[in-house]
Amino acid sequence: MIQFQLNGETVTSESPSDTPLLWVIRDEMKLKGTKFGCGIAQCGACTVHLDGTAIRSCVTLLSTAENRSVTTIEGLSSAEGKALQSAWVDEQVPQCGYCQSGQIMQAADLLSRIPEPGDKDINEAMNGNLCRCMAYSRIRSAIKSAAKGREV
Ligand code: FES
Ligand code: FES
Repeated sequence: MIQFQLNGETVTSESPSDTPLLWVIRDEMKLKGTKFGCGIAQCGACTVHLDGTAIRSCVTLLSTAENRSVTTIEGLSSAEGKALQSAWVDEQVPQCGYCQSGQIMQAADLLSRIPEPGDKDINEAMNGNLCRCMAYSRIRSAIKSAAKGREV
């Protein structure tokens, strides 16, 4: 059994230690906001935070999370996270929505490290988060809006 913090609560998983964290989050913990896209760290749909840093949960073993803190889109309550979620609504970013939780988790990591990111910072940080609906320009606008909004 492996214990870790999930969105601020201590949880225990009975899955084998080499189970991808994504499956534990979705199937065992029943949090469906984190999505499966590629399973090989190439799309970003499964992005969550591990001790505050964005990771691909499809290629992160459950054992890696032991006694550490995992945050999913359902528990994203940081200042960055709130500003992003508000900006996402204002900018009407999502189309199908499938990639969006991963995009927001990645963007929250970016804003926690670089409070006022420029285009280059955004490109570098968001490069691995794919959007089949091509919402990239609105994602960029929302990140910039969130950065500004947080300053107020
Ligand atoms: S499902 Fe993890 S990066 Fe695509
Ligand atoms: S909004 Fe559809 S994949 Fe990004």
